[in-house]
Amino acid sequence: MKILLLGSGGREHAMAWKMSQSKKLTQLFIAPGNAGTAQVGENVNINPNDFEAVKTFVLASKIDMVVVGPEEPLVRGVYDYFLNDALLAHIPVIGPSKEGARLEGSKEYAKAFMQRHNIPTAGYLPVTSTNLEEGIAFLRKVKAPYVLKADGLAAGKGVLILNDLSEAETELKAMLDGKFGEASSTVVIEEFLDGIELSVFVLTDGVGHVVLPEAKDYKRIGEGDTGLNTGGMGAISPVPFADEAFMKKVYDRVVLPTINGLAKDNITYKGFVFIGLISIKNEPFVIEYNVRMGDPETEVVLPRIKNDLVDLFQAVAEGTLNTKTIEVDERSATTVMLVAGGYPGDYEKGKVITGLDQVKDKLVFHAGTVLKDGQVVTNGGRVIALTSYGKTKSEALKDSFDTAQKINFEGKYFRSDIGFDL
Ligand code: AMP
Ligand code: GLY
Repeated sequence: MKILLLGSGGREHAMAWKMSQSKKLTQLFIAPGNAGTAQVGENVNINPNDFEAVKTFVLASKIDMVVVGPEEPLVRGVYDYFLNDALLAHIPVIGPSKEGARLEGSKEYAKAFMQRHNIPTAGYLPVTSTNLEEGIAFLRKVKAPYVLKADGLAAGKGVLILNDLSEAETELKAMLDGKFGEASSTVVIEEFLDGIELSVFVLTDGVGHVVLPEAKDYKRIGEGDTGLNTGGMGAISPVPFADEAFMKKVYDRVVLPTINGLAKDNITYKGFVFIGLISIKNEPFVIEYNVRMGDPETEVVLPRIKNDLVDLFQAVAEGTLNTKTIEVDERSATTVMLVAGGYPGDYEKGKVITGLDQVKDKLVFHAGTVLKDGQVVTNGGRVIALTSYGKTKSEALKDSFDTAQKINFEGKYFRSDIGFDL
């Protein structure tokens, strides 16, 4: 099978690495990919949101399947684009339809879905300029901290958590006035959930589904979970507090109602569901859906799956996923992200990365890297994710941190406390 993978981050390098191990794979292309994906497949210089360019390449290269890494092409409707094109309709796309992708593309849509299907989540109110007064009354009713979410995609920056009521009222108005552009013309106000976060991943063909290993990521830039939010600074799987009893609650109350809800609502969904959860006294509540895998969660989840990933994707495409079971590596996997100095604010690119040849025996997933004049240089805020296995998470982490010392580039930063709270 010839596969085209869309995306260019650490998630895509991990997916490409895993797919490249499949006997079913004959050729793997990654658009646009990075210096890491180029080691396990062939990069093609195409923007995943340029569907015409994707089409031209898919037809010219006789691609048999398209796997979508990031949310943006999904929210823009790449699944439907293929389905509605006579020349592309027979080529499976691993990812939800445009309607399904609204679970990530619109917070209000996701909350209404959860409410409709009795999935536990925080109380909320959608607010636009037409019901601002109601929004302010809701803020005054709920207790601090105040959670304000831009309805649309805002590159992970659209959620504000504020302690002060008057600040929350001011920010609500600023968001409705376009603080995050069109994305915040609707704001979802939520009750604050006080607990510990983790993520659960499901692969589904719309009916059949498999639950993948859970993971916990570390979103803040600073040690001790302080400072600005990032895309994710590291991750751990398994999550020690997610024991069998907790995961059964997650399955019964969240996973199954979600999959059944998609079917009841006639939403075509053949891809990953990423369920962001908060555990409050061992009770799971959903904070968000994403319609793709997480990054850097993928860098610990896929290394723990023993199955052939291409075989699983084929089952998704054929609607036979209910015949599959996931085989999990019992070891812990951890990943530590090396980022550019200044990230998640302004940072420089093009810094030469050294030491990669010393860690060839390690799982080194490239995120923001590119090959330039024969050298691997930085090309993003998150640069490289270093994954390790261990009998325990501490053992795995020690290895990830050791590797982090061996790779260098100007301005390199990483959190040395990944897993500190577990
Ligand atoms: P989201 O994009 O919806 O996942 O929100 C980003 C982050 O904000 C989450 O990962 C949580 O850390 C936090 N968050 C979101 N919603 C809530 C909530 N209702 N209560 C507490 N924290 C939240
Ligand atoms: N690491 C969080 C995400 O992928 O959204």
